[in-house]
Amino acid sequence: MSDSINQPDSQHYKNNNDQPAVQSANSPLTHEQIREFVAPDNCLDGKTILVTGAGDGIGRVAALTYARYGATVLLLGRTSSKLEYVYDEIESFGGKQPAMLPMNLEGATYAEMQQLEGLIDKEIGQLDGILHNAGILGQLTPLEMYDVDAFSQVMKINFTATFMLTQALLPLLKDAKNGSIVFTSSSVGTHPRAFWGAYALSKQAVEGMSDIFTQETHNITNLRFNCINPGGTRTNMRAHAYPGENPMSLKTPEDIMAGYVCLMSDASIGVRGQVVALQPKD
Ligand SMILES: NC(=O)c1ccc[n+]([C@@H]2O[C@H](COP(=O)([O-])OP(=O)(O)OC[C@H]3O[C@@H](n4cnc5c(N)ncnc54)[C@H](OP(=O)(O)O)[C@@H]3O)[C@@H](O)[C@H]2O)c1
Repeated sequence: MSDSINQPDSQHYKNNNDQPAVQSANSPLTHEQIREFVAPDNCLDGKTILVTGAGDGIGRVAALTYARYGATVLLLGRTSSKLEYVYDEIESFGGKQPAMLPMNLEGATYAEMQQLEGLIDKEIGQLDGILHNAGILGQLTPLEMYDVDAFSQVMKINFTATFMLTQALLPLLKDAKNGSIVFTSSSVGTHPRAFWGAYALSKQAVEGMSDIFTQETHNITNLRFNCINPGGTRTNMRAHAYPGENPMSLKTPEDIMAGYVCLMSDASIGVRGQVVALQPKD
């Protein structure tokens, strides 16, 4: 039996080269430069970017921001009415016509995600980036007491569906000139913390997935994989996690958009395998 592993078929990636593998994690920009990126007008012109969880919180603001910088935004989320509202907001400021992709990541099948890939290919013809932003908090409780069904739900939405969607959309992303995949982590994804259970584990898995994708593809494609850790941000999820906190003490999603735009724009070409904390403690 062969002990070789299946390698991605380099013929199917753009910018295939014969360079030996180099350090896969690489960043021509410092994390501070990413956080403080001053985005040129229209820096996302010509790009099509899919945002998951685009109806609320950070995802909603990221979708609006990408549209303001010239992208065609594909709005994926589970609540159609929220997506419609974001759609209308984009139209109201004259952004490129977005598309709504209602999908509940909890129950979504791989076949549905492949259908989505076919639909984007047919209707739009390109995909340059995904912001994997959708997520749920789950329970804040000791692992010993964690409800196993709730555990599976968190892992499916925050991690497994993220993997499935990435894999299903790879054929389009590999055809992009400079594709960018941005995953969303959290401080407890980088450093696991007691009582954060499935949420912390799902975010650790997301960081690991970004690292593995980077290692497997960095020398055969321009496609780049990175994680963002937004840090404490004024959203519904944060309010559920910290009910006693004054929300006004937190940054808003709008305050942290520079990093989100940077990692999607061509300014971050060559930034690979990073976990960029947008609000580092020090
Ligand atoms: N806010 C923070 O302080 C903070 C800190 C660290 C990391 N993060 C991460 O940042 C990301 C965004 O968080 P947020 O604070 O903006 O949370 P949020 O306000 O709760 O928004 C989460 C979004 O994900 C969508 N979503 C949830 N379950 C879904 C499902 N099954 N299928 C499709 N979409 C689903 C929600 O859709 P509906 O609106 O339809 O429910 C919503 O649009 C998450 O990955 C979170 O873990 C946030």
